[in-house]
Amino acid sequence: MSLALCCSKTRDEKIMSVDGDFKKEKLLSKSFIFDALDSKTQQELANFSYIKRFAAGDIIFTMGLPGQSMMAIAEGSVRVSMFTPSDREVTLNDLTVGDVFGEIALLDGQERSASVTALTNCTLVVLERRALLDILQHNPEFSIKLIELLCQRVRRSDERMIEIAFLDLPARLAKLLLRLSTAAPATADKPLFKLSQSQSELAGMIGNSRENVNRCLKKWQKADVIDLQGGWLILKDRSRLEALAHGE
Ligand code: CMP
Repeated sequence: MSLALCCSKTRDEKIMSVDGDFKKEKLLSKSFIFDALDSKTQQELANFSYIKRFAAGDIIFTMGLPGQSMMAIAEGSVRVSMFTPSDREVTLNDLTVGDVFGEIALLDGQERSASVTALTNCTLVVLERRALLDILQHNPEFSIKLIELLCQRVRRSDERMIEIAFLDLPARLAKLLLRLSTAAPATADKPLFKLSQSQSELAGMIGNSRENVNRCLKKWQKADVIDLQGGWLILKDRSRLEALAHGE
């Protein structure tokens, strides 16, 4: 299928050039780290990049494999995860338009530190190591943006580690529900108090089992803190959830 046919109309039309190809520099400019580059350098980087598309559920790459590229998400969202020795998936983060991933193996030349899967159909701009290292060497502002990104990820990992080590399951789950309910913009069919994540997904995000998450949610349902209806998780009492998140 041609890229032109894959694209939805409206905004995407503006980033297609006349020959139906994506304007990669426009796609790259959706990521904050590329803001630091002037338009000439963005164009240069775009010339060394290519577009790759994935369908929902596709594995983009697997932890442990060598990696020579970094990806910027132009459309869709992906899940970064690791697998426990018993093959349980632990979600590290969900990333969406404007986010980049694959920077770790690209920078240190080692293996992929996690697996990445497409949560929805995705369009990615793929940047190869050689071109990116060259641009990093000549653009200190760009290097700083990349360092900022790594710092954000270290901070988030530290927070998670502390949560897993010191908070009990109800506090971790309450924190997660509150975070998810404010992370994505509300829509008419999905207001802020309604979550679509499955109990297995929630368990993967807080490093616990689906069974424990289910037990906790059932208890909260009885106490009228949440409701579970037709696959939705409805937050009924935010202030109680906030108290639970603080271990009260
Ligand atoms: P890389 O190691 O090349 O491949 C896996 C990618 O997942 C990694 O680069 C990062 O881009 C991303 N990644 C790894 N750990 C995290 C995390 N804790 N939060 C967000 N992204 C991550």
